[in-house]
Amino acid sequence: MRGQEFPKLDCQYAGKCSGCPWYELPYSEQQQRKIKALEPYTVDAFHPVAPYGLRERMDISLFEGKLGLYDFAKKDLVDIQECQQVVPELNHWIHDFRKQLPPVRLGSFRLRIGINGQRGIWMDIPNVDIKKLLEEKTYLMSMMNEGVHIELGQKRKALLLKGEELKLQDDIFYPWFSTYQGEDFQPLPLFSKVGDFSQSGQQANKIMMQVLSKMLFDLPVQNISELCSGIGNFSFFMASLGYEVDAHEWNLASLKACEKTLETFSEKAKIKFHRTNIHANNLEFTKKWQHTDLVLADPPRSGLGKFVDLFANYEAPKYFIYASCFAETFKKDLEALKRFGYKLKRLDLVDQFPQSKHVEAIGLLLQD
Ligand SMILES: C[S@@+](CC[C@H](N)C(=O)[O-])C[C@H]1O[C@@H](n2cnc3c(N)ncnc32)[C@H](O)[C@@H]1O
Repeated sequence: MRGQEFPKLDCQYAGKCSGCPWYELPYSEQQQRKIKALEPYTVDAFHPVAPYGLRERMDISLFEGKLGLYDFAKKDLVDIQECQQVVPELNHWIHDFRKQLPPVRLGSFRLRIGINGQRGIWMDIPNVDIKKLLEEKTYLMSMMNEGVHIELGQKRKALLLKGEELKLQDDIFYPWFSTYQGEDFQPLPLFSKVGDFSQSGQQANKIMMQVLSKMLFDLPVQNISELCSGIGNFSFFMASLGYEVDAHEWNLASLKACEKTLETFSEKAKIKFHRTNIHANNLEFTKKWQHTDLVLADPPRSGLGKFVDLFANYEAPKYFIYASCFAETFKKDLEALKRFGYKLKRLDLVDQFPQSKHVEAIGLLLQD
């Protein structure tokens, strides 16, 4: 496969900031390395998206007045004013956030730009600092007055103003990301919290949906069981194409967010969300497999793990689509799935992580 060329990354932090470890490699070389990392599997199509500017969310750290990403030794923060990997609106948000950093010694922050340009932040800071900021009020109020939606702490509680009081509340969802619906790929806003997992940007996500719809197109499939469905990115898209989808996810907040998106979705009857830990040997879960034509899995980096062993208990579905951003576990799981007769029939790579070794792999497996 011939590698595509893009201009090289021209960033003042290149070589210092660990966010773009492959900044020195021409894009064609990055592409070849990503394809090689999937060996012994053969890549059928590599989909470049853009060399930078794709991310609509960014995780950034603060330590003693420095705001940025870690250096290559993972010891010091590289203080960054902007990041080439993010969309321009997010760089404006980073810029404004820097103007008035929170009065805390350390913290991690997820900054997001929503589908309508709104700004969000999840501030993962120690509880003592949350308490201090809530008592002090002015810092948080000034961000809220600028229209920023704030989530605080490990539980990602939303900050609300009730009268004169700042209150924390569970589960406030906004459309921070969007998936697509129908054969003409109309955007469908997806509700979530700022801190929830979403794919990193809509441009690459659309290509992933195109890859998925091509894979599904010719298959004699009606019922799909989806594992690790998150905020419903694939689930709503597949249901909009007419498939009956059982979506399984463990994160409660993501499931509640899906219920919120469901309220706006015209094909409600096509989709059911279940709270399932895919690693638990759960009888109800196993029963669902009896009438599944295809499994779609998009697990976290740790992969499918013990889940694959469940296939020993019943007849496994004929088709399996596996999406992963982590080549090592993708290959390990494919190897485990071989025990149940699955063979890789097609492999697409969508490069939503340029300048790094990561890539989104989407594989279609068929049982012999
Ligand atoms: C890579 S994300 C996939 C999200 C979704 N496909 C998307 O495109 O936004 C992985 C998801 O797996 C979920 N997850 C992690 N461990 C799980 C488990 N043991 N059982 C079920 N879901 C799990 C996470 O909460 C997360 O939503």
